[in-house]
Amino acid sequence: MAEEKKLFKVKIDNISVEVEPGTTILNAARQIGGDIVPPAMCYYSKLKGSGGKCRTCLVKVSKGSDADPRPMPKLVASCRTTVMDGMEVANITSPEVLEARKGVVEFLLLNHPLDCPVCDQAGECHLQDLSYEHGADSTRYEFKRRTFDRVDIGDKIQLHMTRCILCYRCVFTADQLTEKREHGVLGRGEAAEIGTYIQQSLDNNFIGNVIDVCPVGALTDKTFRFKNRVWFLKPVDAHRECSDPKCCGKVALWMRGDEVFRVTARKDKYGEVEEWICDTCRFDKKEVKDWVIEGPRKIERQSVISQGHYVGVHKPKDALVEVLDGRQPKLLLDIHNISEVNKPNIDLSQINGPAHSDDFNK
Ligand code: SF4
Ligand code: SF4
Ligand code: FES
Repeated sequence: MAEEKKLFKVKIDNISVEVEPGTTILNAARQIGGDIVPPAMCYYSKLKGSGGKCRTCLVKVSKGSDADPRPMPKLVASCRTTVMDGMEVANITSPEVLEARKGVVEFLLLNHPLDCPVCDQAGECHLQDLSYEHGADSTRYEFKRRTFDRVDIGDKIQLHMTRCILCYRCVFTADQLTEKREHGVLGRGEAAEIGTYIQQSLDNNFIGNVIDVCPVGALTDKTFRFKNRVWFLKPVDAHRECSDPKCCGKVALWMRGDEVFRVTARKDKYGEVEEWICDTCRFDKKEVKDWVIEGPRKIERQSVISQGHYVGVHKPKDALVEVLDGRQPKLLLDIHNISEVNKPNIDLSQINGPAHSDDFNK
């Protein structure tokens, strides 16, 4: 008979859990779930070697173990510290941890631009959530924020280096998922930045996953850019038979009406993808007919998106033409020409009805 594995008993914020030896404090907390789970901006359970960069997951170890009950002298990164039998940890019950986390958020925001109103990540941004929960009301920083030369990393992915928090997740993704690593962190300290070095495009078939793992809006989908706000879209589970054996073919479609605005991997409540998808599924399959629709997706993460309840929705009758006495509605104001956000590829005043994403240059 196989010998039963001894589990380690850990107490996190006074809640006990038994976990396998080698489990990190963060993953032990995730087994308990709820508010006591430390935030994690760089750790990603699907990426080997991730974690240990951002310090948002700091916790206090008030008792090291049953064998050596001394507390750890400093706060520790819970994503990189493994549990010991009898360990006691404080996260939200420790004012010291909350104060330190406030400081970490302040550091992460030091150079961060005030882009939320125009940032595609808004509404599903981990940094927004973190700032809301742990950030200060205002900044004490008086210096000029960091700026970068614009780097073009291909036709599908947009890099906004000013928003990057240097979590390294995209570097691990490129390293572990694609045939060869094509980008990395260049420079050190204040000069550190994500780059492709010789500015070659990231055109590997799995590189689109860097968009999903990026916790902020530093890497966004160019085919979705500025097309819609994420909270106006309806997430729907769908799948297809993908010819790439490494791709699971199971995705979330972000729809408005019958239009597919973007395709992403499915994410769990910690914002981590469940399974990876290839770039063909992500960027080239933007029609409902490409997919087998499974049904509305429940967004478990605390987010403005989860406020939408889309089960049993019936499309209201479009009464505009009737109200206009049979006339087709015309676009009255072409804001795109003014804002130069996205260039239309036709004269918008000549089309019947509202503009569609196909009417804009990708
Ligand atoms: S990355 Fe997040 S916090 Fe930064 S501008 Fe975008 S939405 Fe705002
Ligand atoms: S681009 Fe995004 S995923 Fe990559 S290091 Fe910066 S924040 Fe992390
Ligand atoms: S999540 Fe632990 S250091 Fe970033």
